[in-house]
Amino acid sequence: MARPLLLTGASGRLGTELRPLLPHALAPGRADLDVTDAAAVLAYLRAHRPAAVLHAAAYTDVAGAEREPEGCWRVNVLGTRHVADACAETGAILVHVSTDYVFWGDADPSRAARGGYREDDPTGPVRNRYALSKLAAEEEARRAPQHLILRTSFRPRAWPYPTGFTDVRTSQAYVDELAPEIALAARHADRLVDAGVRVLHVVGPPTTVFELARRRRPDVRPAAKAEAGVALPDDVVLNRERWLGWREELAREHG
Ligand SMILES: NC(=O)c1ccc[n+]([C@@H]2O[C@H](COP(=O)([O-])OP(=O)(O)OC[C@H]3O[C@@H](n4cnc5c(N)ncnc54)[C@H](OP(=O)(O)O)[C@@H]3O)[C@@H](O)[C@H]2O)c1
Repeated sequence: MARPLLLTGASGRLGTELRPLLPHALAPGRADLDVTDAAAVLAYLRAHRPAAVLHAAAYTDVAGAEREPEGCWRVNVLGTRHVADACAETGAILVHVSTDYVFWGDADPSRAARGGYREDDPTGPVRNRYALSKLAAEEEARRAPQHLILRTSFRPRAWPYPTGFTDVRTSQAYVDELAPEIALAARHADRLVDAGVRVLHVVGPPTTVFELARRRRPDVRPAAKAEAGVALPDDVVLNRERWLGWREELAREHG
């Protein structure tokens, strides 16, 4: 029998969208696979021998990470290390879900332009402890000889706020738009890794937060990021050309 796909974080925002798209994937809850427990992770992978692990489990509470940095580090950094080492040990491909937060996103005099970040652009500096943990997690993911880091950024299906910022540029999209793309990349992780792909930006087209909001909430009002009360980047758009090229290639190969 073909080796299965294993999805971590299946109960989360992204995992909930991914489950029906990957109906044959193993999708254990935290009680069955706590990524902070190295021995449990290795035992699970030894028992189930997945071909690939789509690692979407994470500590994602950005404000909580400032109050409780150790908890965030334990899940995001050590958890990813445990998954990467178990993948290395059992010959699984690690498909690691990362974030646009690994880039700074503000005007930077050393760069011709901010935003438009490509996969190989230097990461950092980081904006907060969540971002630091996700940047460190990418390094941990690289411990797996066969790894694919998917940097993404998404919103829940519905825009929850009355306003959207006109002065923040983003390549975020809605989670139900990006989950099928993440699932596609995960299904073909062997092809991508064999071709030497190690990082992909799986995001939407460049837009402002306001325009993004307006797609799902037509009555949203324009606002400025100064009103947010927290520091937000000016432009954290990720360049997705590499992924669009592969998406076409996979469609040609698989119909
Ligand atoms: N949300 C965004 O805007 C965004 C943007 C860019 C990237 N990402 C990345 O996308 C991925 C998924 O994010 P999300 O928004 O779906 O997160 P989420 O809704 O907060 O879900 C997190 C998932 O991780 C699980 N989890 C937490 N600690 C765990 C542990 N110790 N062991 C096993 N599972 C554990 C949670 O399980 P429980 O249900 O048991 O808590 C839940 O299933 C993350 O890597 C995140 O960094 C998210």
